[in-house]
Amino acid sequence: MKVRKAVIPVAGLGTRFLPASKAIPKEMLTIVDRPTIQYIVEEVVASGIEEVILITSEGKSAIENHFDYNFHLDTVLTEKKKYRLAEEMRHLSNLIDVVSVRQKKPLGLGHAIWTARNVVGKEPFVVLLGDDLVLSEQPCTKQMLDLFNEVQESVVAVQQVPMDETYLYGIVEGKHVKERVIKVDRMVEKPAPGTTKSDMAIIGRYILQPDIFDMLDKTTPGHGGEIQLTDALLALSNKRGMYAFEFDGTRFDAGDKLGYLKAIIAFALRHPDICENFSDHLKEVAAQL
Ligand code: UTP
Repeated sequence: MKVRKAVIPVAGLGTRFLPASKAIPKEMLTIVDRPTIQYIVEEVVASGIEEVILITSEGKSAIENHFDYNFHLDTVLTEKKKYRLAEEMRHLSNLIDVVSVRQKKPLGLGHAIWTARNVVGKEPFVVLLGDDLVLSEQPCTKQMLDLFNEVQESVVAVQQVPMDETYLYGIVEGKHVKERVIKVDRMVEKPAPGTTKSDMAIIGRYILQPDIFDMLDKTTPGHGGEIQLTDALLALSNKRGMYAFEFDGTRFDAGDKLGYLKAIIAFALRHPDICENFSDHLKEVAAQL
């Protein structure tokens, strides 16, 4: 079955980025010349997805407005004969159909995805976390869709992390069935040191069969009263199988201060307007360290 819809949860509190995220959603913080969320929506579009479902909360309307048509801006830019910019803004509002659903309480990622159940319906869908960026030649979501089309079962994106950092992630255990593809046997959320031999960490990209909603229905709140996605993923993998995919690219956690700064550097070094000057500047800075 073709994957048509992408769910992007953006309802979290963003406590790691306070005070910056107090009045501005962290997903709207700028990476070079556009907000994090725009890169994510552009990845979705470049992967052939037809509809975005934003999971939002109070204070996140800037994200919806960013992808909406702004009549006033269009009129002013046109009056000022800034036609190219006006066209760029219209293109942004026409990128893809966006609908939003409210998560009324920040009860965790599992709960955020469950909130989309009626809008998604009974079809497989992609999930992209609103603060997780992947820089790659081919969009990460597209790479995952290619695998999904082959296996027709859920796919989670994973990356190798240092063994002493596994406790920070959801970790996947299983066997390689081919290069970069692992058949999942077990999943554990933030394992205590020494309790897993795997260093394969789940990042913010998933393709899920709609059965995940039944699994989320049955998931009892875990750590911090939150409904953990990993518990439901494990139940889904036991029921119908799941694959972990070592995508090609570099992932940045833009919801974290250091990850955000690393993302800015990586994207700036690829930006045609500034890459050369910025690279020269970085060399000067490095020479002074
Ligand atoms: P995070 O794990 O980064 O959580 O969520 P957070 O609450 O936003 O941020 P911190 O940890 O307090 O700094 C990953 C993604 O899932 C969304 C977030 O908006 C983010 O894009 N999310 C998280 C929800 O939509 N709802 C939730 O209840 C939790």
